[in-house]
Amino acid sequence: MKNTYLDLIQQTFYFPQDGFEVKNNYLHFNGIDLKALIEEYGTPMRLTYLPKISENIQKAKKWFADAIEKNNYPGEYFYCYCTKSSHFAHVLKEALSNDIHLETSSAFDIDIIEKCYLHKLITKDTLIVCNGFKSKPYTQRISKLANLDFNIIPVLDNKEELEEYERTIIYECDLGIRIAAEEQPTFHLYTSRLGIRYSEIKQFYIDKIQSNPKFKLKMLHFFINSGIRDTIYYWNELTKSLKVYCELKKICPALDSFNIGGGWPHKNSLGFEYDYAYMASEILNKVKSTCEEEGVECPNIFTEFGSFTVAESGAFIFQVLAEKLQNDSERWYMIDNSLMTTMPDSWGINSRFILLPVNKWGNGVHRANVGGLSCDQMDYYNSEANTNEVYLPVINNAEPLYIGFFHTGAYQESISGYGGTKHCLIPSPQHILVDKDENGNIITEVFAEQQKVQSMLHILGYDKMRDNGE
Ligand SMILES: Cc1ncc(COP(=O)(O)O)c(C=O)c1O
Repeated sequence: MKNTYLDLIQQTFYFPQDGFEVKNNYLHFNGIDLKALIEEYGTPMRLTYLPKISENIQKAKKWFADAIEKNNYPGEYFYCYCTKSSHFAHVLKEALSNDIHLETSSAFDIDIIEKCYLHKLITKDTLIVCNGFKSKPYTQRISKLANLDFNIIPVLDNKEELEEYERTIIYECDLGIRIAAEEQPTFHLYTSRLGIRYSEIKQFYIDKIQSNPKFKLKMLHFFINSGIRDTIYYWNELTKSLKVYCELKKICPALDSFNIGGGWPHKNSLGFEYDYAYMASEILNKVKSTCEEEGVECPNIFTEFGSFTVAESGAFIFQVLAEKLQNDSERWYMIDNSLMTTMPDSWGINSRFILLPVNKWGNGVHRANVGGLSCDQMDYYNSEANTNEVYLPVINNAEPLYIGFFHTGAYQESISGYGGTKHCLIPSPQHILVDKDENGNIITEVFAEQQKVQSMLHILGYDKMRDNGE
């Protein structure tokens, strides 16, 4: 039994693996030499590796194309990117280079759609699926795009939403309806607050849409928060939604799309295992067999993968500033940023990310708690997805230890905010974009410098401060 950090990883996981390899005791991420990147830009650093976004979209398209072939499935597959997972222009640009469609969640998302159209990243043929509980500014923007002949599908979250479109949409428009799924058994509420109850959808369609000349019901939407998993709960909810689809289809010929939402998992541990091809095939198999039993045509399948599209493109690199032993067993590695504010999911919903050192892979290992710079008791990270503890290399010489949290590209900035003011005024890290040129060489650019003190003082009103007594 050997006991370097590299030995530990090799004994615990299949390693090296896709995206991660070690050369001369330094970690490379998707072929990026992280040591060189740190030498060039320093830490703390947020990095986005853009090619991973296209890679994942293409993988998912292939899984569904193979599943269509395997099941002799008569419908088509449409990949939508759920913009809320990461709204950055560079993310949308990369994602849209893969002939995909988009899903929106709020009013300002529609302004992003307009920008994408102005810059020719999308056309009016791109499908825009609009989800969420809609405020007036959101329905107004949706109606504007519908009236400009965009291929927009507002997905009704509730019955009243239709009244807004009645007043503001001029031409014919396709609609979707979101089913309010039952929450997973472990959750403390029964039914999702989003969508319309299973039992009410058909009557609502008959009362309000069937004979309405302006609207056609095209899509039924179903999303469950725990994601697309091979569990009884998932298959149950899918079957219930398919039954609603079939019932509706019998009286609504325009209905031809079934949207299974997001929740396609991404790799959050080196031990992550998920049979994507199997799941895609099983879903299509289930849809097809249910439709055949009910004697209705199979729908086109839509997905709105957010995390899967972007999570694996992101990473944070931090320097360990100091090691502190607070008692006989609690060792702290204090990093140069805050976990709580920079990776809020690690604190707020206890999400786990892949944590690996960048250097010192030849050193011995011990347990450590990673501590953030804010004063909050909860600003720490000390358990991995499968192990409930964190092991890191022993720090033994002048070279600082650098650690990386990987696959952090989804939701972190939209939850913590990008820039703005932060707990204990810990600044947002610099943001480096990493891409490949036409010859496959890695190229980098600074997207944003580390947040400056002036930006926070401005937000906090210090720019407008008057002398005492004035
Ligand atoms: C309606 C809808 N679609 C898609 C998604 C994306 O989910 P994920 O990022 O898990 O793929 C969400 C996430 O909350 C959602 O609410």
